[in-house]
Amino acid sequence: MGKIIKGQRIGILTAGGDCPGINAAIRGVGKTAIIKYGMKLVGISDGFSGMINKEYRELTEKDLSGILTLGGTILGTSREKPFKGSGKGKNEISKPKLIREHYEQMGLDCLVCIGGNGTLKTAYLLAQEGLNVVGIPKTIDNDVWGTDLTFGFSSAVNIATEAIDRLHSTANSHKRIMIIELMGHNAGWIALHSGIAGGGDVILIPEIQYDEDKIAEYLLHRANENKPYSIVVVAEGIKNPTKDRSVAQYLSKRISEMTGLESRETVLGYIQRGGSPSPSDRVLATRYGTTATDMIAERDFGKMVALKNNEIISVPLSEVAGKTKLVEPDNTLVIQAKNMGTSFGE
Ligand code: F6P
Repeated sequence: MGKIIKGQRIGILTAGGDCPGINAAIRGVGKTAIIKYGMKLVGISDGFSGMINKEYRELTEKDLSGILTLGGTILGTSREKPFKGSGKGKNEISKPKLIREHYEQMGLDCLVCIGGNGTLKTAYLLAQEGLNVVGIPKTIDNDVWGTDLTFGFSSAVNIATEAIDRLHSTANSHKRIMIIELMGHNAGWIALHSGIAGGGDVILIPEIQYDEDKIAEYLLHRANENKPYSIVVVAEGIKNPTKDRSVAQYLSKRISEMTGLESRETVLGYIQRGGSPSPSDRVLATRYGTTATDMIAERDFGKMVALKNNEIISVPLSEVAGKTKLVEPDNTLVIQAKNMGTSFGE
């Protein structure tokens, strides 16, 4: 353990898509910083935009009370990517340079970046520019490389599972095929976990290529076995042959054309990202936040907090940046679901 440095001034921002648990992480960072180390906390507004526009405010311990259970982020967020195409115009100051100047003008000793893959890549590039940075991984997608889990994921899986549970009764009453499309960007984690938790008959994820004929054959087989309905859980990132329709709409039409069975689609959307975090997301976000502040006290920068085998560890941002954690086709859960007869459309 390095020498503990107290009294530092730490900036904190949240960037990328919001998710449940961000405020719990801000609270974990902030309370530990203020109470344990006597540090000052500066909240940057709207992700990296706040660093570019110098929009920030000091946060006291009182500002951190009552936010543990709140969804969204008290700091606001944006998808600003400062390293993308800035500073190319004549006499234009590049955004990374502005961020560096503002970091110094705000008197920051370090910057905590809470975000997903895009944010953590930017955090890494800022560390390369000489800023002291600590990353905290968050996203409902659970696709950050280097950590077993991101907070936001458990809440999203809970919401998606409840939605699938509710589809069972209406599917049964009408004897329909129900297709539900879930978020996850290019990864199938949410669809895989909530598909298993909700008893999906077919689970389609981007990591496993689906074949429409196989899906139709499987659904007809179920119908012939007098199973009155089927639930098809699809990740938003699977192949969509259309440009103007969601993949759930496409598959719903296609399946009913191919099988003659009645089908309906649901696109769950942003509901998966909203509202209060699950208890396990609150705990994970708190563990990440408090550990991030301990790292700052030890001046252990350029790293991201992560979960490995239920231990909180730190991983160099250089190892995380630019990578995505996808579902391996031989993931144990995939194999176990297949062993129980679940189709992955192959
Ligand atoms: O990364 C979280 C996420 O909700 C993805 O699942 C989804 O693809 C994307 O963000 C939606 O982004 P936006 O908020 O920009 O519409």
